[in-house]
Amino acid sequence: MGRYRIHVATGAWLFSGSFSPVQLWLVGERGEAELELQLKPASGQVEEFEQDVPQDLGPLQFLKLRKHHSLVDDAWFCDRITVQGPGALEEATFPCYRWVQGEDLLTLPEGTARLAGENTLDEFQKHREKELKERQLIYCWGTWHEGLPLTIAADSGKDLPPDMRFHGAKSLDNEQAEKTGALEMVLKRVYNFLNSWDSLEDFDQIFWGPKSTLCEKVHQRWQEDELFGYQFLNGANPMLLRRSTSLPSRLVLPSGMEELQAQLEKELQVHQVLLLSSPYLCGEGNGNGSLFEADFILLDGIPANVIQGEKQYLAAPLVMLKMEPSGKLLPMAIQIQPPNPSYPIPPIFLPSDPPLTWLLAKTWVRSSDFQLLLFQYHFLNTHLVTEVIAVATMRCLPGLHPVFKAFTTLLSVSIALIPHIRYIMEINIGVRTQFDSDSGIFSQAMSTGGGPHVQLFRRAMAKLTYRSLCPPEDLADRGLLGIPSALYAHDALRLWEIIARYVEGIVNLFYHGDDFVRGDPELQAWCREITEVGLCHAQDRGFPVSFQSRAQLCHFLTMCLFTCTAQHAAVNFSQGMFEGKSWELEPCISECLVDSRFFPPRQAWLFWVPNTPCTMRMPPPTTKEDVTMATLMGSLPDVRQSCLQMLFVKQVHQQKPNMVPLGYHTEEYFSGPEPKAVLRQFQADLDNLEREIVARNEQLDLPYEYLKPSCIELNSDAI
Ligand SMILES: [Fe+2]
Repeated sequence: MGRYRIHVATGAWLFSGSFSPVQLWLVGERGEAELELQLKPASGQVEEFEQDVPQDLGPLQFLKLRKHHSLVDDAWFCDRITVQGPGALEEATFPCYRWVQGEDLLTLPEGTARLAGENTLDEFQKHREKELKERQLIYCWGTWHEGLPLTIAADSGKDLPPDMRFHGAKSLDNEQAEKTGALEMVLKRVYNFLNSWDSLEDFDQIFWGPKSTLCEKVHQRWQEDELFGYQFLNGANPMLLRRSTSLPSRLVLPSGMEELQAQLEKELQVHQVLLLSSPYLCGEGNGNGSLFEADFILLDGIPANVIQGEKQYLAAPLVMLKMEPSGKLLPMAIQIQPPNPSYPIPPIFLPSDPPLTWLLAKTWVRSSDFQLLLFQYHFLNTHLVTEVIAVATMRCLPGLHPVFKAFTTLLSVSIALIPHIRYIMEINIGVRTQFDSDSGIFSQAMSTGGGPHVQLFRRAMAKLTYRSLCPPEDLADRGLLGIPSALYAHDALRLWEIIARYVEGIVNLFYHGDDFVRGDPELQAWCREITEVGLCHAQDRGFPVSFQSRAQLCHFLTMCLFTCTAQHAAVNFSQGMFEGKSWELEPCISECLVDSRFFPPRQAWLFWVPNTPCTMRMPPPTTKEDVTMATLMGSLPDVRQSCLQMLFVKQVHQQKPNMVPLGYHTEEYFSGPEPKAVLRQFQADLDNLEREIVARNEQLDLPYEYLKPSCIELNSDAI
């Protein structure tokens, strides 16, 4: 018996309050009490009230609530409810962070994370089993295309559970983003009054609006070999480059190219003696010469799109590059198509070729890079993988599980994947609809759109290994460790270390040894669900089907968190233009982050269409002669396709004003001081990395911004 002080926090989203009365019950170990007060929660408010309870409830275990209908079912987004008492007893927190709809009774367990127990009579155990049964009816797997990762079974955003849909403010923000305003007007005018491009300068007509320093540099220098090579290390797609260990078998040199062969072999050997003394500077089994390659063989044989009755063209180039001692990566040779026994040996294009010939060869590479970036490295490897993690989490991990909580919180920690995955389902449904729509931007502008993309996805799926999602292994496999000018590689590794430290801190709080990991049935089911179900038996590609140790669990969780946040930022925001406007700051953001958030980078590699053309309209050249400006212009996207590329870049890759950077979510899923301490360390590590990157970038001609912690968005709400 005694007096309880109760605080009810409602989400600060638009429409998250409710006019419907809400009734509460407290449930303790020794009894249950219905509270007389009926709330009417208001958006962004914390309502406080006191209530006398005659009986002794004992330690509080659950809080029940029911939202009654008034005239309509006015949904309420409840953040959390805290209860203190009786008297000066400790506070109990009941995290909710979901929409409360209908008149059903909702039971919230006290927020301390717990592993599953064996006592089926235990109230918490009963609660978690019931919760999972209910969730498995709501979150069902669907098949988008055979052979691709499974998705949430929903045809449109309206089919999703309310908690996986955009909150009001975010939804409105996305709608505003779609109204791209002035740029769209310019594109429409260009499209209506211009039938074709005649010269490269014509693209200036859609290179419009405020631009970042990088945009301007791309515009001015896109034809230079140095910028072409740089993009493989630090551009929109830093995922394809690898150090050569031998000359690729597809690189069949026509007669008369013995000099090139000698140069390539020489680069294979260069630096070998120097680097042998420092194993850090070379990847395992990847040689240590200064010869690198980017092979687009995944595109070989894929039929190209047909856009408005006109056949488009695809190629599968190979680029050989050398790294100079200064760290510059320069192209040495390009083979646009692999050899085919039915045709003559394809030409090898060289920097010494006529300028337009060499430029056209590089343009083929850039267009191929756009296809792999969009479909393989961006949508498949980050969006679809994140969706698998999201659905498996909702199906296998109850709200009380530390891993369910663990990928979140600022003030009370959890591994909570939840902020990282909340919106991915609705975003992905939108993109899938676009991919499979005949009138969608991909069908209308991309050379792999309109059907060929499914084949590309299937091939990319075969390359989706566990190692490829983990930077320490991926960068070692690609021979990219220890290269000072490889900025993506450096920042990705640093972030991986920081996330791994955070994950280890949380895991060690709840798993006191490997036995605890092996004995957690919910965790093991989650692992199997991701690998065997969502990723379609990905154990063949190195994904685990069970966790045998804490170390194995930590590695997997780090991969999940890195993929959902940092990796997505690296391949998403590098494509499009940031808006350059300030956005509302959360009070919890540290001063270090505040500075950079007021001036977000506005960098984009895809904004100048000739640098990364969405399609090619003529077949690749088969000789070095006869390449004219007409050939180049006839190959680049036409006016309509270029306008669509600009619209795509503008619409879907901008950071939103309400973005929350990594480590700074406001949800409080966890209770207890230990997780909070782990989170504080995580934030301190991120702040240090932020300062490190800012200081480094000040010294660079082309700063690398995409993995700055302040630029990594939690909610994956950018397409
Ligand atoms: Fe994205």
